[in-house]
Amino acid sequence: MVAKILDGKHIAKDYRQGLQDQVQTLKAKGYTPKLSVILVGNDGASQSYVNSKKKAAEKIGMISEIIHLAEDTSEEDVLKELDRLNNDDSVSGILVQVPLPKQVSEQKILEAINPEKDVDGFHPSNIGKLYIDEQTFVPCTPLGIMEILKHADIDLEGKNAVVIGRSHIVGQPVSKLLLQANATVTILHSRTKDMHSHLKNADVIVSAVGKPGLVTKDDVKEGAVIVDVGNTPDENGKLKGDVEFEEVKEIAGAITPVPGGVGPLTITMVLNNTLLAEKMRRGIE
Ligand code: GUN
Repeated sequence: MVAKILDGKHIAKDYRQGLQDQVQTLKAKGYTPKLSVILVGNDGASQSYVNSKKKAAEKIGMISEIIHLAEDTSEEDVLKELDRLNNDDSVSGILVQVPLPKQVSEQKILEAINPEKDVDGFHPSNIGKLYIDEQTFVPCTPLGIMEILKHADIDLEGKNAVVIGRSHIVGQPVSKLLLQANATVTILHSRTKDMHSHLKNADVIVSAVGKPGLVTKDDVKEGAVIVDVGNTPDENGKLKGDVEFEEVKEIAGAITPVPGGVGPLTITMVLNNTLLAEKMRRGIE
């Protein structure tokens, strides 16, 4: 079996077209969604992520700004900036790019974002709502993964879904979404014994670790659906997923490439959540 390639760029393009239409409708009512991004410091990967988010927002007719603060900005000054955005009626969605420099507590910052503008879904009250199945902002990479799975021709109900990695941004929330879709979910992590036996049993594997070469053809069941969230630059700066793509695609039923798999969907879901935030606070269905 040769796997269907789940082309994230293509899926994202179609989805963004739908969002663009909705932005036009909102604009006609006098509301323009605006995404404000706070970036602290000069991490190269973070700078490139936030630039992509801004560009994508503008491309579908939203307003977007990057508030770029110096590496040595104090926690108090980041909080002040957040407070201003929380209270600015023109701002629909706020995103603070992580990681943050060490003098700034990530927990404190994420708790200070107005939950109604928290388009990343990182605020504790939004995380709590997700876990009791209330409608809320859901983190963007997990949402993007679920959108990709819709294109994999797999009914998740009753299937064995194995998630590798237990981060707050990807592993744990995507496990919750898979559970909501009635999959049987197993989370593997650095202390798991015998990862291979769990993987071999999986109908769906979501790998979100950041370790190239982690998942090989020997780990994968014939026909399994593979979503690779890894994006680790190699010595030439080329992005590598966690999965040995070339060999696994010969066995899998469907697989995401890196790059061009999950990444474009993550950004798409930032836009999705920004639109949702604007609609919710204006009371528009
Ligand atoms: N850093 C890595 N991924 C993300 C993300 O989805 N949102 C934010 N804010 N920072 C990140």
